[in-house]
Amino acid sequence: MRLIVGISGASGAIYGIRALQALQELGVETHLVITDAGLETIRLETDFKKADVVKLATKTYRLDDIASKIASGSYQTDGMLVIPCSMKTLAGIASGYSGNLLLRAADVTIKERRRLVLVVRETPLSLIHIENMATVTRAGAIVLPAMPAFYHKPKTVEELVDQVVGKALDMLGIEQQLLKRWEGQLHAGQAGARPRTPKSRRPP
Ligand SMILES: Cc1cc2nc3c(=O)[nH]c(=O)nc-3n(C[C@H](O)[C@H](O)[C@H](O)COP(=O)(O)O)c2cc1C
Repeated sequence: MRLIVGISGASGAIYGIRALQALQELGVETHLVITDAGLETIRLETDFKKADVVKLATKTYRLDDIASKIASGSYQTDGMLVIPCSMKTLAGIASGYSGNLLLRAADVTIKERRRLVLVVRETPLSLIHIENMATVTRAGAIVLPAMPAFYHKPKTVEELVDQVVGKALDMLGIEQQLLKRWEGQLHAGQAGARPRTPKSRRPP
């Protein structure tokens, strides 16, 4: 499997790093592009150096390398993951403004009808952000907000991060063990029992 990975400058650089670690362990070929703001958040939010992150990818590209192979639809990939995805990068993708290699690769992924997963992060969201998410969704991309679930009772930040990264890889069809799946609630002595529908919601 061959995947393009983009790291942009939203908070949560650790999501991108963890995704690269997991993909390396799974033997997935990764083509990495990091924005300038992405490099800044890696520096500000983590103990990783740029060189440590680059080592996790199969190949890393300069942000201005618009003549590279991932800038062309003729280079076949199994999709692209932008993790984390800033509102600026989201806006670039939504408007088709391919001003750097990450944006161009995302544009290509959409036009070639390949899977594009955007792990967006901002809060609160403005109408502009929401409309851009709607636009990319209509174009076929998957908006996967960096919103971890809590049903697996996480005890560490790593467990929260893995829940988001695992879900993103799941959406790209990559089998992994990071995502803790909900197995259903079993009450003692009620294994397999179906919950009763409250009277008020039963059909007449
Ligand atoms: C520490 C830090 C955290 C940031 N967090 C976010 C964020 O969560 N979401 C966002 O959209 N932008 C965030 N930004 C702002 C972006 O980095 C900024 O808009 C940048 O221009 C995005 O560029 P890029 O999309 O090319 O990476 C953050 C910036 C810094 C320095």
